[in-house]
Amino acid sequence: MSAAAAQLELRSVTKRFGGVAAVDGVSFEVGAGDIIGIIGPNGAGKTTLLNCISGVYRLDGGDIRWEGHSIAGMPPFRIARLGIGRTFQIVRPFGSMTVRENAAIGALFGREDARRGPKEAFEAADGGLELFGTHDPGPQAARGGAGGGDQAAPPAARRGDGRPQQRGDR
Ligand SMILES: Nc1ncnc2c1ncn2[C@@H]1O[C@H](COP(=O)(O)OP(=O)(O)OP(=O)(O)O)[C@@H](O)[C@H]1O
Ligand SMILES: [Mg+2]
Repeated sequence: MSAAAAQLELRSVTKRFGGVAAVDGVSFEVGAGDIIGIIGPNGAGKTTLLNCISGVYRLDGGDIRWEGHSIAGMPPFRIARLGIGRTFQIVRPFGSMTVRENAAIGALFGREDARRGPKEAFEAADGGLELFGTHDPGPQAARGGAGGGDQAAPPAARRGDGRPQQRGDR
């Protein structure tokens, strides 16, 4: 992929914790519409890398560019507004709400230009859940009734509802 086509570009991204280089000179590009996975054993630095992209951590070296502009050092809320969403490894659903309702939250409270009413939010939630291959177990609450996969899907779908252009999960 040429540099001009990259929507997200990491250049020699480095993050250290004391003497530990959790992320050491990582470079890659993600184009619009690409779906990629980051794999590695426990402690490989996957979460740290996502924390670098989403602005949770300041880089110790390298640069992260979004549509050709550096976002290194930008606070997480600004990065989110650009359209870079993330979800977390430990799911925290609203337990009294259904899977579908959990997924719809992002459409109701996403980016300012992405906000929609309840009907549209549920339509967006259905699209997000379908993308992640999850069915809505109906009135089953997200906690208790739904299985782990169904619990994990709403946060991911929720990021879709907020219309992020790049998503990071875990
Ligand atoms: N906040 C922190 N302070 C100090 N060291 C950290 C911190 N976060 C991560 N590390 C260290 O950085 C390295 C990478 O950890 P990280 O959590 O990014 O790995 P991971 O690939 O997400 O692992 P897992 O598959 O277990 O989720 C590990 O050696 C870890 O101990
Ligand atoms: Mg991790």
